[in-house]
Amino acid sequence: MKIAPSMLACDYVKMGEELRRVSEGGSDYIHLDVMDGCFVPNISFGPGVIKALRPISKVPFDVHLMIDRPHRYLREFADAGADMITFHIEAEDKVEETIAAIAALGIRPGLSVKPATPIEKVFPYLDKLFLVLVMTVEPGFGGQTFMEDMLPKVRAVKEEAARRGLEIQVQVDGGINETTAPLCAAAGADICVAGTSVFRAPDAAQMIRRLQQC
Ligand code: DX5
Ligand code: ZN
Repeated sequence: MKIAPSMLACDYVKMGEELRRVSEGGSDYIHLDVMDGCFVPNISFGPGVIKALRPISKVPFDVHLMIDRPHRYLREFADAGADMITFHIEAEDKVEETIAAIAALGIRPGLSVKPATPIEKVFPYLDKLFLVLVMTVEPGFGGQTFMEDMLPKVRAVKEEAARRGLEIQVQVDGGINETTAPLCAAAGADICVAGTSVFRAPDAAQMIRRLQQC
């Protein structure tokens, strides 16, 4: 299992140090949650913060955009140093164009669904995507309870991809810890985002290793 600690759960007073801690702790990706107060009822940070963090870590930056009409801001996140950009199908009319624009910037595109959105909505785009993000909480806040009833969506993406001979990473995000990560692994997830469980652990590196073994 690949692990992407979510910086949303870190101590913002020492964000650079926190990033160094999880990067040296063996993270596969660094997950950066961008929230605009419109698509979700919370505001986090934007490209300026991501750009400032970029020189601190060599680990790929996985940017999760929870913003309305994300196509407007792709260049800013590319310039900030994103390696992957995932946006929400519910937030964008121009899904195909947005995926193409991300790829044209040399960035791996991801597409996400909120808990109420049927997973079949992403199927028409699977051949253009690096990853599909299945939300296992309602997006907007860290520290929520994992929704186990989202796991059939993970299985459905893996099955559809296998049927069509596509390589696709399935990422899960929200409420991932040592109890829920094995359920995600069993459903076929490739990448677990983990905020609270990693940053609140007494030893973040040890928690990353434990989750990777799931
Ligand atoms: C929620 C974010 C998540 C969040 C996960 O909207 O997309 O990435 O940081 O936090 P935990 O792991 O605490 O549920
Ligand atoms: Zn996220």
